[in-house]
Amino acid sequence: MSDDPEEGMLSWDESVFRDERVFELGYLPETFKHRDSQMESLGYALRPAVRGSQPLNVVVRGPPGTGKTTAIQKLFDEVGAQTRTVRTIRVNCQVNATRYSVFSRLFEGTFDYEPPSSGISFKKLFGQIAEKLVEQDRILVVALDDVNYLFYENEASDTLYSLLRAHEEYPGAKIGVVVVSSDPTLEPIEELDSRVQSVFRPEDVYFPVYDEPEIVDILMERVERGFHDGVVDRPVLERVAELTAESGDLRVGIDLLRRAGLNAEMRASRVVEREDVEEAYETSKYVHLSRSLSGLEANERALLEIVARNDGDQAGDVYEAFHEETDLGYTRYSELVNKLDQLGLIDAEYADVEGRGRSRSLSLAYEKDAVLDRLE
Ligand SMILES: Nc1ncnc2c1ncn2[C@@H]1O[C@H](COP(=O)(O)OP(=O)(O)O)[C@@H](O)[C@H]1O
Ligand SMILES: [Mg+2]
Repeated sequence: MSDDPEEGMLSWDESVFRDERVFELGYLPETFKHRDSQMESLGYALRPAVRGSQPLNVVVRGPPGTGKTTAIQKLFDEVGAQTRTVRTIRVNCQVNATRYSVFSRLFEGTFDYEPPSSGISFKKLFGQIAEKLVEQDRILVVALDDVNYLFYENEASDTLYSLLRAHEEYPGAKIGVVVVSSDPTLEPIEELDSRVQSVFRPEDVYFPVYDEPEIVDILMERVERGFHDGVVDRPVLERVAELTAESGDLRVGIDLLRRAGLNAEMRASRVVEREDVEEAYETSKYVHLSRSLSGLEANERALLEIVARNDGDQAGDVYEAFHEETDLGYTRYSELVNKLDQLGLIDAEYADVEGRGRSRSLSLAYEKDAVLDRLE
């Protein structure tokens, strides 16, 4: 890059970005457009807690990148600002996918330190959380965010059962639950054990994907906060929105803006051109894939890599390669196949195979190279 002060060129110490942080994953947007009715329903469900009584439980559903986590965070912030009688804790179930680890997070949120790493029984863990609640006369509102991961691990029913029946074992303990699912193919209520269904009658709140004009509207604000004036013009923003609408995941659009900005800087340009966006899209379109992969454990990654290298093979053949590498048995293998299938990383389809009857064939849901590159 030259320091020639030529018109239109960016010098080495300049940036197209006014504030690059607005494109980071954890950034909580100041305004939250096109989600008024959802925020209202959520607020209505939690209002009893602010008054000191048991809140309504809620099931929030909607595809990834539709503002569910943001809504919970905004709402919890509001509740926290209004009253001290409600404790709100959001648990990321992609990271905490068992009942024990969910309750470890609740313990941490209650006591501000982690439970002993030597391990205590679930009963003790739960007992201490509940006793503290009763002692402080507080109401606990738990958001199980991306709860679909608890379903994939068969932990959802036990976790919810414990939360919903807490008041029976610990009189005076009041707990409300907000269950958030990002898996459009999952019917959370139907998938629960009947013992949970009989005590779980939640309100329903749905987050549809944003349409193109809504995406323009929302991303406009990021552009204004994140870029200097004149860096991203309207047609470029509209192209970003169009590409974002293909998946409906707003994360794609935010990532796209940031990468397109970096591409412009690479060219020492003061403006983001359409080509910067097109080039960025080759990476940004995999935001969802990267997110799914980041939550996988070693064995799941191993299986996905084997499927990638043997795309379209029969489940039995894939098992042999998997067993050789991991030493795991067929039952665990089947569970992992189902999980990768539910995550939308692979397609496991039944097909008739000559001489073998019906068998599943496993194929990758994404391009092979895109997956292998990101597994490294
Ligand atoms: N209405 C909105 N206004 C501003 N930013 C939004 C809006 N909806 C979603 N976002 C942003 O999009 C990204 C994905 O939103 P998130 O709440 O994490 O979605 P979900 O939990 O449904 O997957 C976040 O960076 C969030 O800030
Ligand atoms: Mg989320």
